[in-house]
Order: sequence, then structure tokens, then C-alpha cells
Amino acid sequence: MKSFYYARECDEKANEIIKMLKNKYPDLVVYQPVACESGQCRLENYKKDLDVKSYFSYSTKDAMNDYLENKNLFFKNIIKDYKKLLSEHSFVLVVTFKEFGKLSPFVINLELVKELNLNLVIEPECEELIKIAKNFGITPVVGECPAMAKEPNFMTPMAFESLLEEKAKSNLKTVVLPEGNDDRILKAADKLLKSGAVKLIILGNNKEIAQKASDLGIDLDDVKTYNPGNSSLDDECANALYEARKSKGMSLEQAKELIKDRNYFGTLLVHLGYADAMVSGAACSTADTIRPALQIVKTKPGVKSVSGGFFMCLSDKVWYFADCAVNPNPTPENLAEIASVSAATYKAFGFEPRVAMLSYSTANSGSGVSVDLVKQACELAKSYEGLNYDGPIQFDAAVDIATASKKMPDSKVAGKANVFVFPDLNAGNIAYKAVQRSAGAIAVGPVLQGLNKPINDLSRGCLVEDIVNTCLISAIQAQ
Ligand code: ACO
Repeated sequence: MKSFYYARECDEKANEIIKMLKNKYPDLVVYQPVACESGQCRLENYKKDLDVKSYFSYSTKDAMNDYLENKNLFFKNIIKDYKKLLSEHSFVLVVTFKEFGKLSPFVINLELVKELNLNLVIEPECEELIKIAKNFGITPVVGECPAMAKEPNFMTPMAFESLLEEKAKSNLKTVVLPEGNDDRILKAADKLLKSGAVKLIILGNNKEIAQKASDLGIDLDDVKTYNPGNSSLDDECANALYEARKSKGMSLEQAKELIKDRNYFGTLLVHLGYADAMVSGAACSTADTIRPALQIVKTKPGVKSVSGGFFMCLSDKVWYFADCAVNPNPTPENLAEIASVSAATYKAFGFEPRVAMLSYSTANSGSGVSVDLVKQACELAKSYEGLNYDGPIQFDAAVDIATASKKMPDSKVAGKANVFVFPDLNAGNIAYKAVQRSAGAIAVGPVLQGLNKPINDLSRGCLVEDIVNTCLISAIQAQ
């Protein structure tokens, strides 16, 4: 452990903790995200004798202004400063701030505990704070040695976004965006280029793209653009399409026509290696976006059907739902495969998958044709080595330990599932939208899984942030 968040109330204990940490970590730094109104740290009296440096991101006044104007930016600045301190010191003791105008500072501290993914250490006497923390979904470390406490496991939407950016940056890939005529695409391109997390190719009429970019104040000088049907790559794309589809009866003339479709052209750029991934669908249907990929890029060896999952970013965790996008009526074989590829997708982003095969029945409690379908899928899933799954299982038994202990006491997945496989597209698509709209979850996807190369679909109502996230995910899938 290199850090924890300390809710200090008792002066003597604070002194002991700082001494103990200083002995073990001589370059210890105390980080109080928001300084006291005096401009100092709350632990000033204790740490000065020990020569411990303190660091702040904000004065009380500036913190309140930023928090009220743009809460996300406020948290992002603190996360950035904290990470910098963590990279420069062997231990960062984060301490709660107590002054924040009329706003409740303790709750803002609790939000930061989750954003920074830290253990919250509280002294046993602080019963009120312990209660508030628990109500906020944080189990504080009380009266035990912080070093012995279990590592926390929070993943906020903001932390997930920064994980995506870091991962994408670690191995730079090129994403093609076929819908260069859409302002949202150009704004997303601007953000992505500024972050340096991906390289881009944009499709469309070169002059129109340049004009739009200039109207929006966006610099696209480093971006290659191609106009399908009027580009230097037309012949190569048409020949590649003809080769891929001639066995299905396509002529070269038809291929030359079809490459004028920007989704075919973009998919061919990925197929031919000019780009590593494609993101499209801001202006066209899922079927039109992914059909070229199904026909040309095809599935990975050993995968029969492509499916689409969503990272569901809840307030402090990320779940994965599938299939929410492609297969209307999956067979048991399809469902077992979706369980396996979804676990692999989730794992590729750094999470340990526990897969629930969802149904309206848990274990042997109910019966019916669709329950039998999931039972058969569970049998077939045994052939996927190392897949940690269980089912049929209802959603409550999948996520709630108390229900799980009654309904499936011996399961390794029940009560702690994080990957959810729905019995068909109706269930999956309805569920992800219901959770997104009612629980305020950020749904990142659909992430198409099982294709030889990443092609991802956007919803027509997508926001600039959705496009940015989908591009980052596609770039990571291509690594
Ligand atoms: N996995 C792999 N390959 C597939 C799949 C699949 N799931 N489905 C079709 N294919 C292949 C076929 O084998 C065929 O290949 P071939 O031409 O080389 O033989 C090719 O794709 C075309 O097959 P068709 O059946 O003609 O494809 P069609 O375009 O009619 O349908 C599609 C495929 C688009 C995926 C269809 O199943 C569909 O529309 N699904 C639902 C999409 C949807 O509306 N989702 C909900 C909204 S998305 C959202 O809300 C996030």
C-alpha cells in the first residue's frame, strides 16, 4: 500500500500515524486536496517537527468555485495532482479537508476516496463519520492496522475513462472515422488528438472536412482524410472487396460501386491495415455499420458469432452486459460463446471476470423453454477452460450476497458477478438502456467482440464523450 485517506479527528492518533509512516517512508508527503482557510494543512502542528512536506490542490475559495462550476474538472485536477505525488513519493497520506463553505466537506472527501480508490482510515471514536461512510458505500478501516487492510476496489466512471486513455496511449493505434461530415465526430477527433491517445483517419469530402474543422476551430493538420470513391486508395479497396466477396457472387464493378459507401471503405482500410480499427454509426444504423465487418473482416478463429457488450459504469464499479447489440435469438452454443468472449473482453481491460448466465430462474427453481436454453448454454460453457461462470441465475442472486447465500450458497460467482450474459437481445438491449436511464450509469459501447479486427458501432444519439470512449476502446482492442 502506498497511500490511504485519513479522516483525522484525534490529535494524538494523528501524531502517532504520521510518526509511524515517516519512520517507514522518509519521503512521506501529506496531501490535503483543499487547504484550510488559514492556507495550511490540518496536520500542520504534528508534521512540522518531523519535516514532512504537505501539498494542496486548492484554496478553500477556489475549490468551492471550481466544484460548483464544473465538478468533474474539480475532481480531475485533484486526481492529476494525487497521481503526480504518488509517482514522486513512496507514500502519500491523504487527509480530509474540513472547510468547504456551506457544502458538506465530508461527503466530498468520500467521493474522492472512491475517485482515488483508497482505503478510508477512521478512528473508532468517530462513530458518526463511520456511519456516513457506510451509507455512502464505503467500509472504512477502523481500529486495525491500515497496512493489513484489504485493497479497495472502486472504479468510478472518471477513473474508467482515465484507464482507457492510459491504456490507449501505451500502444498507439490508428482509428478510422467514416462520418467526417458530423460535427460530433470532428469535436471528438479534436479531443482525441489533444490527448495523444490515438491516431486518426477521417473519411469524407476533404474540402468540406477542412471547412467544418476551421468553423469549429479544430486543427486537423495531422489527420489523413480520404474521400471514398474519389481517393488514391479506391482501386486497392475495390480489389480487396472483390477478393473477399467474389465467392458470394460480387463482381468487380459492384465492388467499385460499394466502396463509395463510407462504412465499406472504412472497414476496408482496417482490413488492408491502413487503420487498426473503425468507429462509425453516429449517422447510420447498427446493421449498416457492422454488416461490412461481418462480410469482410469476419470472426476471429474459433469464434462463430459476433456479439456486442456494454461497459456499464456505475458510481463506483464497472460491470459488463452482453449481448445487447447483435444476435436477436442466440442458440445455447451462441450464449456459451458470448459468455466466454465477454469474459475475455472484460479481462482485456484489467478486470477479473465472474460471469452470470442470467435467467428468470436461479439454479433449479424455475422451468420453461428459455430457462432450458440457459441451462444448455451453461453445460456447453464447461468446454471453455478457465471460464468463471454460473447459471441459470437471476439478477438479484447474481449481485447480492445475502440472496446468493440462500439461493446458490456454493457458487463462486453468485453475489459477486460482474459480467452479465442475457438470454437474448430483447433482454440485453432493454436491460442496458433501463440501467443507463434509471440508475444514471454511463454505458460505454456497444463493444463488438469476436471480430478479427475492431469495428465498433455508435448510437445515433451519441455524445462527443461517447465517440471519444468508443475510439479509445477500439484502439485498446487493436493492441
Ligand atoms: N456473427 C458473425 N457473422 C454474422 C453474424 C454474427 N452475429 N450475423 C451475420 N453474420 C454474417 C453472415 O454469416 C453473413 O456472412 P456471409 O455474407 O459472408 O455469408 C453476413 O454476416 C451477412 O449476414 P446476413 O444475415 O445477411 O446479415 P444481416 O445484415 O441481415 O444481419 C445483423 C446481420 C446486422 C447483425 C443482424 O443480425 C441485425 O440487424 N441484428 C440486430 C442489430 C440491432 O438492431 N441491434 C439493436 C440496436 S443496437 C443498440 O441499441 C446498441
